Amino acid sequence: MPYLTIDGERIEFEKGETIIRAAERNNIEIPYYCWHPRLSVAANCRMCLVEVESCPKLVPACQTECQDGMIVNTKSQKVKATQQAVHEFILINHPIDCPICDQAGECKLQDYYMQWDKTQSRMQDAKVNKPRHNRLGPYIIYNAERCIMCTLCVRFMEEIAGMRQLGIFNRGDHSEIDIFSGQPLDHPYSLNTVDICPVGALTSTVFRFKQRVWNLKRSASICNHCARGCNIYIDQRAGNIYRFIPRENEAVNQSWLCDEGRLAYSQTNQRLAHALIKSSSTPEPTVSDCNKAKQRAVDILAKPNAVPPHLGAMLSLHATCEEAYVFIRLLRDVFGVTKIALLEYNLGTQDSFLRLADKNPNRAGIMIIIKELGVTIFDNNELLNAITNNSIKTLIVLGHEGDNAEVVAKTAAKANTNIIHLTSARGPLSEVASVTLPILAWPSLDGVWVNADLRAQCLTPAFTGEGDSQPSYNWLINIATCLGANFNLNSIETIRDQITQQITAFAKINLANIPSVGVELA
Ligand code: SF4
Ligand code: SF4
Ligand code: FES
Repeated sequence: MPYLTIDGERIEFEKGETIIRAAERNNIEIPYYCWHPRLSVAANCRMCLVEVESCPKLVPACQTECQDGMIVNTKSQKVKATQQAVHEFILINHPIDCPICDQAGECKLQDYYMQWDKTQSRMQDAKVNKPRHNRLGPYIIYNAERCIMCTLCVRFMEEIAGMRQLGIFNRGDHSEIDIFSGQPLDHPYSLNTVDICPVGALTSTVFRFKQRVWNLKRSASICNHCARGCNIYIDQRAGNIYRFIPRENEAVNQSWLCDEGRLAYSQTNQRLAHALIKSSSTPEPTVSDCNKAKQRAVDILAKPNAVPPHLGAMLSLHATCEEAYVFIRLLRDVFGVTKIALLEYNLGTQDSFLRLADKNPNRAGIMIIIKELGVTIFDNNELLNAITNNSIKTLIVLGHEGDNAEVVAKTAAKANTNIIHLTSARGPLSEVASVTLPILAWPSLDGVWVNADLRAQCLTPAFTGEGDSQPSYNWLINIATCLGANFNLNSIETIRDQITQQITAFAKINLANIPSVGVELA
């Protein structure tokens, strides 16, 4: 195999590999601004210049392919002087407005200056002033003064989004990134340009000035907005989510997210902390002590008519596999329910990149469990008819996510159906439910979703739930126990053990230890 030497280290390479890639593979850091592993090479920032023996000039590591026997030096005096010169050049016009810049704390210019430059400015002249607040589209604001003209955003739009919505205008130190006249940057993947901008030139209208990034806590999770299951990081502070950003997964979303999914975080910030009850004396849902509310649910379910066909069950396709498994087992084994209705979103926008028409993140996982546990699906119209003609008198619902929630709520209210609602947020169903029990929202849950490609992926808790909220299976198991059932599922570990024993599709998967990029179901 051919090899090259970088900083004295012998490194084997595949034909066509560039120096920056070979160095990266071997944890040798070469600084860069304009390079991105998924975009074409522009080699315009000159930050990655390295010394190659027998080459008279420094070469860009992002553009230069490895050659057999090549000797590369990334730390020589010449390289160091160039890195300082590159910074001096960039900082001629870049304002030092880090205290008010959204990128501060995760800015390459800030970090690299400290790491590779640290020299004083020699500039005496005033900086070139450029526009600071150019709205390029609904979610993007451009500060031309901070732009280092790396062209990453322009290349992303051309090469990944497939739509030329950005270009470079003017020349020299008057160059600016801009949209073409009358055509805003309104592409459904526009916010990825903010992620890849190495400085704070492109900022998100939604995140702008909301938080300093060093105050945010980050945890790995999965987008809940469609069945693709893009990998994300949740950035939150004290349980308030401020943004989702892409987490790399070659098999799912590479390093991108759609704007729609990315911006769905705000819906998750409205969470239910306490139980609610409703009765003839309290016709509006009223906050209740959680034990009292649980007892109310037990009393409703203990009534002689809370059995099939008078007992119905509805499950959101946002529930985790663990939640769905316990819900279906309880309904089937304790109450004898064999038909489950689904709370689901209607088909939405689909494209040829990431977005899928199915907006329900765990449809695949829940359908597998439903099928393997031998229950059938209650068609939506069939359910509505059964509620209307009073055949269903009690309905137990897990989750609030779904376009059909409103019509079910209205129909149930008309028919005076008793609803026991387990939910992480108020919605149409909790407004008419006799009892609403607070459950943990998906960002606080330990659980598994299966995406449309049958990839099982893990949710990890980003923060603890508020108030009396707890995992839905805790409520369910508790209710079953109060009803005298011996429901032998008392922890997430036992639930997972049973899933792997009973659901063949999960038999070979260690649900407690799914890799961070997920695993395909066999
Ligand atoms: S806006 Fe950002 S990504 Fe685009 S060219 Fe300027 S610095 Fe690069
Ligand atoms: S494509 Fe789907 S899963 Fe991915 S970010 Fe968009 S909505 Fe979320
Ligand atoms: S990263 Fe190589 S020239 Fe910009």
